[in-house]
Amino acid sequence: MKILVTGGLGYIGSHTVVELLNDNYEVIVIDNLSNSKESVKDNIEKITNKEFELVIGDVCNKDIVEDIFKNNKIDAVIHFAGYKAVGESVAKPLMYYHNNLFSTINLLEVMEKYECRRIVFSSSATVYGKPESLPIKEDFKLSTTNPYGTTKLMIEDILRDLYVSNNDWSIAILRYFNPVGAHKSGLIGEDPNGIPNNLMPYIVKVANKELECLSIFGDDYDTKDGTGVRDYIHVVDLSLGHIKAIEYVLKNKGVDEYNLGTGKGYSVLEMVKTFEKVNNVNVNKKIVERRPGDIDACYADSRKAKEILGFEAKKGIEEMCLDSYNYVKKNL
Ligand code: NAD
Ligand code: UD1
Repeated sequence: MKILVTGGLGYIGSHTVVELLNDNYEVIVIDNLSNSKESVKDNIEKITNKEFELVIGDVCNKDIVEDIFKNNKIDAVIHFAGYKAVGESVAKPLMYYHNNLFSTINLLEVMEKYECRRIVFSSSATVYGKPESLPIKEDFKLSTTNPYGTTKLMIEDILRDLYVSNNDWSIAILRYFNPVGAHKSGLIGEDPNGIPNNLMPYIVKVANKELECLSIFGDDYDTKDGTGVRDYIHVVDLSLGHIKAIEYVLKNKGVDEYNLGTGKGYSVLEMVKTFEKVNNVNVNKKIVERRPGDIDACYADSRKAKEILGFEAKKGIEEMCLDSYNYVKKNL
């Protein structure tokens, strides 16, 4: 089976390519290197001892995408390519709508033309907006609070409409909670440019003395210790969720949404303390104002992915903290 992976050199994509190769899928990656490096290819090949084809190109360029389908029989696509920074999407909405929507529409048009109608799409728990209750189930009301989230919701709607237009499509929409961690080898992981927005990469940089102090955004939330609670999922578990989703879309038709999380929520303080303990380091921290737009708590009801896809996250926060730090220490 040949799988096209868009954005396959990125954080989640690279870990998923490893698992696909480990499972003997043939893989073609298209990536424009806007948020990744070409050297990731060598590292994936080192980990797996297998090779794959890389097309350096933009999914917004239809000719490039069409060439891939003309020259290969693609059985299914995993579509990671897109921009993902919430704050940047508020500052540059057109850039986000352009990249995330055009790339997806191009891809789907070419897939329709070549009658490849199986796709796994990277959505996000951000489509739940401010959830009314917890844990979050897939049938909760959807809403967004920033352009990034809106692109995800718009693409979900496009995919649902596409299935209505042609029941031959098989579409798995995966809503990720908070991916963290890295491959055990330390060869691939998360490497954000500049000052990170997300919690784990920030903790890692403070531990590594690249940044001075972690600002904890608020300690007066309605949670166990007042700090924000999230559902952190190890990126290797998340990648295995994509393997289950690919197996599913290869066998079944339809469109459906799945939460990929652990179903457990941990607070900022719990994450920092665990990180300090397992890595035996100190993380300077101070409590500051809440970050605008943040919610108290967010964690998944992960039963649907288990029941239908057979996916269950296995790794705990200790392993997430260890692997995140290990990657950065190895790549100083
Ligand atoms: P990432 O930025 O590390 O990876 C995305 C990859 O896509 C990068 O390698 C980038 O170079 C490439 N890319 C972007 N636009 C492209 C285009 N037009 N053509 C070709 N390549 C392009 O991000 P990630 O964390 O691996 O996320 C993957 C997907 O999962 C994204 O769609 C993201 O929105 C979604 N997601 C991520 C998170 C998270 O916390 N990391 C959470 C929820 C959803
Ligand atoms: C963010 C995005 C969300 C995206 C998700 C996963 C925002 C508003 N939301 O969510 O759309 O789907 O990442 O990529 O950016 N925290 C600190 N100090 C920090 C950083 C974070 O205290 O320096 C806290 C936050 O307040 C939150 C928790 O840590 O309680 C997790 O934050 P973060 O990693 O940014 O993820 P989300 O807020 O869940």
